[in-house]
Amino acid sequence: MSRLFWCVVPAAGRGARVGGDIPKQYLPLAGKPLIVHTLERLSAHPLIAGLMIVLGAKDEHWPTVDQLNGKPVLTTIGGAERCDSVLAGLRALLAGVADDDFVLVHDAARPCVRREDISRLIELAVPAGGGLLGAPLRDTLKRANADGRSQATEPRDQRWRAFTPQIFRRAELSAALLAASAAGVTVSDEAMAMERAGFAPLLVEGAEDNIKVTTAADFALAEFLLPRTV
Ligand code: CTP
Ligand code: MG
Repeated sequence: MSRLFWCVVPAAGRGARVGGDIPKQYLPLAGKPLIVHTLERLSAHPLIAGLMIVLGAKDEHWPTVDQLNGKPVLTTIGGAERCDSVLAGLRALLAGVADDDFVLVHDAARPCVRREDISRLIELAVPAGGGLLGAPLRDTLKRANADGRSQATEPRDQRWRAFTPQIFRRAELSAALLAASAAGVTVSDEAMAMERAGFAPLLVEGAEDNIKVTTAADFALAEFLLPRTV
């Protein structure tokens, strides 16, 4: 495949579950801000054309990178929810990215994404009309009651965890995100917006070490994984 793809990188969150004054994407990980690892990985991928980073309106920490690995790095301002930020990123893409072009979306907080998983997602999901990286559930799944007691055991088959990157056509994803927003639904990922719009995104199994750094403890895990997931 010779086509290249832009990647929207939502990075406008506050990192409330990590806590502290600085949003998690700017905290140090193996000597660099977390987000720099993510952007280096994405920009090093031969099928990625450029990056659109979505920043918080009051961001004071963005390191003002405008190219990485020879690829353009553009920025725009995001919104209150992740889905608002992704929509803003899609809108800010240059006119050279056509409505029908596929665009990747990848969380700034997932620095351990593997190059081979990005490649496989593109290879399988583009011909399928769009899709996402994920992994089938491995653990037994419990439904809790209000007292924190296990009330039932849920079936595990056909249940997947959703990761990023996700890849969809620019205009279809924008329309799906807009429709969810108009309906007052906060979608937690792109695939959820697409499902609501009647699409069935392809689930592409990826490595489970593509973790989303969410709590302070995840930094140590991500530091361990970084050199092992290239
Ligand atoms: N994100 C965003 N805009 C928002 C909220 C989140 O661009 N309004 C981004 C985050 O910066 C992150 C990704 O979406 O890269 C995944 O979100 P999450 O892991 O939930 O990050 P935060 O929202 O920052 O963390 P928390 O939910 O703990 O506050
Ligand atoms: Mg969040």
